[in-house]
Amino acid sequence: MVVSDQHTETADAGEGVGPTPGAGVAQDGSLALGGGVVADDGVRPAPVVGQPDASTRTPALELRKVSKRFGVAWAVRDVSFCIYPGEAMALLGDNGAGKSTVVKMISGALSPTSGELYVTGKKVRFSSSQAARRAGIATVYQDLGLVPTMSVWRNFFLGAELRTKGRLDVRRMRWEAEESLKEIGLRNLRSVDQNVMRMSGGEQQALSIGRAVHFEQKVLLLDEPTAALSVKETEKVFEYIGRAKARGVAVLVIMHNTAQALRCAEKVVVMRHGRVISERRVEGDTSALMEAVNGDISGVGESLQ
Ligand SMILES: Nc1ncnc2c1ncn2[C@@H]1O[C@H](COP(=O)(O)OP(=O)(O)OP(=O)(O)O)[C@@H](O)[C@H]1O
Ligand SMILES: [Mg+2]
Repeated sequence: MVVSDQHTETADAGEGVGPTPGAGVAQDGSLALGGGVVADDGVRPAPVVGQPDASTRTPALELRKVSKRFGVAWAVRDVSFCIYPGEAMALLGDNGAGKSTVVKMISGALSPTSGELYVTGKKVRFSSSQAARRAGIATVYQDLGLVPTMSVWRNFFLGAELRTKGRLDVRRMRWEAEESLKEIGLRNLRSVDQNVMRMSGGEQQALSIGRAVHFEQKVLLLDEPTAALSVKETEKVFEYIGRAKARGVAVLVIMHNTAQALRCAEKVVVMRHGRVISERRVEGDTSALMEAVNGDISGVGESLQ
């Protein structure tokens, strides 16, 4: 499928691609599988990476040959991939592979040296993180960007406070924050009035993910959301990610642990030395898949390309 014909240029996503009511909600969560034949061991061979699949759906996010150079060194080189609404893609790779740099370019924190980004089929070029947010990109960095000394509901609506007749509508914000957090799966929260610093790491992830879903963001970027969490809390984060997907959000999650990636993503992409070296669908025998992905991460997979 040639996708480029559908795309229209948008000078700055901050102006033209604002979230629309209902966007990202109740979309077809089913997965269209890419081409390729499943090998005998149940592992789909790594296809030509970065190509949209054969379906007629528009990817929520698409990167085309995106590169980033710092001085003379290329941190990211010709990275292409796409994520569909309701799908999660895990980005794996060793330290320094370029994962966070990719996320920062999508979130508007860094500008690509070259290459193109598309959000729901529209070409975008972000001049800032705010512009990316307005285009429907929610980013949850490791420090989560929360204000620990403020309450749950204040953090939930930070920068997007609800007003009635010019005055902060505290009642509505408290109620909507509580409902949204329940919906994402956070049921044991004592009160939305409690300070964020008294929440566990997993609960703080719930707050960040719940906020992205509430504001109908199209793409959710998570940089190692389970890195500092217990097994139990990690399970909860998988649940929150599942709920975001069910609401039609496209999720890009950076992970270090292959087993965890295979549990929460439909697709795993491995980077090495700034390049995407493999893209695999999560299906079939996951133990064989895990071996293949770990081979890609450690470098064995490069011989397959
Ligand atoms: N601002 C910067 N200036 C110069 N070099 C940078 C900058 N940011 C990242 N790099 C380099 O780019 C490469 C990729 O870094 P990046 O942080 O994207 O890797 P990563 O895959 O996220 O690694 P990790 O798993 O350790 O978080 C590294 O070699 C890093 O040193
Ligand atoms: Mg990183």
